[in-house]
Amino acid sequence: MSAPRLLVTRAMPPLVEERIHAMQVDPVFVTGPLSPEDLQAALRDFDLLLPTITDKFGANLLTSNVRVRLIANFGAGVEHIDIAAAEAAGIAVTNTPDALTDATAELALTLMLMAMRRAAEGERVVRAGGWKGWGPTAMLGQGLSGKLLGLVGYGRIAKVTAARARAFGMRIACFSRSPVSDPDVQQFASLEDLLAEADVVSLHIPGGEATRHLINAERLARMRSSAVLVNTARGSLVDEAALAEALSARRIYAAGLDVFEAEPKVHPALLTCENAVLLPHLGSATIETRTAMGMQALDNIDAWLAGRDLPNRVA
Ligand code: 8YV
Repeated sequence: MSAPRLLVTRAMPPLVEERIHAMQVDPVFVTGPLSPEDLQAALRDFDLLLPTITDKFGANLLTSNVRVRLIANFGAGVEHIDIAAAEAAGIAVTNTPDALTDATAELALTLMLMAMRRAAEGERVVRAGGWKGWGPTAMLGQGLSGKLLGLVGYGRIAKVTAARARAFGMRIACFSRSPVSDPDVQQFASLEDLLAEADVVSLHIPGGEATRHLINAERLARMRSSAVLVNTARGSLVDEAALAEALSARRIYAAGLDVFEAEPKVHPALLTCENAVLLPHLGSATIETRTAMGMQALDNIDAWLAGRDLPNRVA
């Protein structure tokens, strides 16, 4: 019997590719992102897929007449895969939820520090030759120590972000649907109240239709004029046009964004905001983390090959 066919849609870290070559699969490596037509062909021609966030599997593609049995997503978020359609078509979907927790929390802190301390702005001044020298009131930002970090969502990444933020002397609050037992975390009953109190608001909830534009003009207006918004979760959570307006009118202090509504496009108005820190979806982008994500995806493929329960099944 021939080995199951595996399509890997993007170049993977070397150790991940090495492990794939040693597995009982017939692998094909391409360097996507793949078009909807390519994905349709992949679903027809392969048993197993190892895709990423840039491969969009809508309900129109996930039909019951495809060959694919497992989509082992390289990444935690699965908003780019229609899970209900996968379930209806009998296709299993897995993700990599644990591997990127620390790296993403670390990037949330990076953005907080950059936005509060005006680091990106300062770097631009130096590079442009515009630095006129040290001054007692030059480029003053805000410190993290003693400030209230308001976490929206309190899952794995939020918890590690809180732990890292405590090391900087921050106090922690959250708005979460499930009760939080940590007595050192102030739990708010409404998002509006958290937004009104927090010095830094950091988003840690999934994207998708249910949370689209959760942070809109009205909610931005609730935030303090000294507050910073950080988003390492999904671009769809924030109305970028409304955010750019709030930033340029200085209704909030700054924003640190790693994710965008239509990646790799960034709303043009955000590009003109000095007080926006803009990173190209770097949350999990360390060699250690991307390797661990690949290994976690392969653990799921190995389980499927051995007929075992899939450790990170989402469909
Ligand atoms: C990944 C992410 O790099 O895992 C996630 O949900 O947002 C990223 O950090 C990306 O999804 C890779 O597919």
